[in-house]
Amino acid sequence: MTKTAKGYSNTIWNGVLRDEYAHSTSITNISQQQRSIISITDVKKIYKLGDIAVNALDGVSFDIFEGEIVFIQGPSGSGKTTLLNLIGGIDTISEGNIRVCDDTLRSMSAKQLTMYRKQRLAFVFQFYSLIPTLTVLENVELTMELMKFPQKKIRKDAEHFIEMVGLKDRRNNFPSQLSGGERQRVAIARALAKNPDILLVDEPTGQLDQDSGVKIVDLIRTIAKAQNKTVILVTHDLEIIKFADRVIKLRSGKVVSDSPLEGSAQIESYI
Ligand SMILES: Nc1ncnc2c1ncn2[C@@H]1O[C@H](COP(=O)(O)OP(=O)(O)O)[C@@H](O)[C@H]1O
Ligand SMILES: [Mg+2]
Repeated sequence: MTKTAKGYSNTIWNGVLRDEYAHSTSITNISQQQRSIISITDVKKIYKLGDIAVNALDGVSFDIFEGEIVFIQGPSGSGKTTLLNLIGGIDTISEGNIRVCDDTLRSMSAKQLTMYRKQRLAFVFQFYSLIPTLTVLENVELTMELMKFPQKKIRKDAEHFIEMVGLKDRRNNFPSQLSGGERQRVAIARALAKNPDILLVDEPTGQLDQDSGVKIVDLIRTIAKAQNKTVILVTHDLEIIKFADRVIKLRSGKVVSDSPLEGSAQIESYI
């Protein structure tokens, strides 16, 4: 696998390792290597609407490495959500393959896909998807109850994650009593409570003002780095691009650029 854009050059062994520092082409030592956690190969998604075929994804290929924060950026209709849904195993691939660690999604049974979603992934959506009749604490606890975590751990961890997103004082409030940014924080706490390897985030700032949106994405980045989570975040919002390690631009179902971000100069040139 190779991809180059804006001087991005990486070093791959057997398609699964690369130099951690994307600007370096030299192989140094093993501690600087990252493992490919997701490998997307020539993926196509065709929706059939009667006689009309919509090519939502038209031959997308890239790898995502463990601990990386990857933003998939593109205008509305470019295929971002479709791609996230395919990676998340909630929609079926028309052509090509997605491998997550050693598993190929297309070869998994429905039961295996459910286990994959349940144990390895957590989703954060634009519209928060909180249960309105449960408090902040109960929303987070419910996720852990569904995961069948021990009861003692549930209360302790729920409190911990709520504190981590800065909502300790609001834990007994209902979602309707919170601002959009606070609701998104609950959604993040709920996602983290599952202890996923991979966070899939779809337009997290879509319902927020600019300031709240920036704070939310900053929070996602801070926590993901502290806990070594891999994040795939799709957005059309250029204000938050600076929080990515790497930005993959999608246009009309194709990757048109794939580049790491290092400092504001690159962000400016990217925009
Ligand atoms: N379930 C569906 N049935 C038919 N067409 C769809 C479906 N979902 C998405 N599409 C189409 O696929 C394209 C990509 O959509 P989407 O992935 O939602 O884009 P984005 O998230 O970038 O806005 C669009 O043209 C959209 O209309
Ligand atoms: Mg979308």
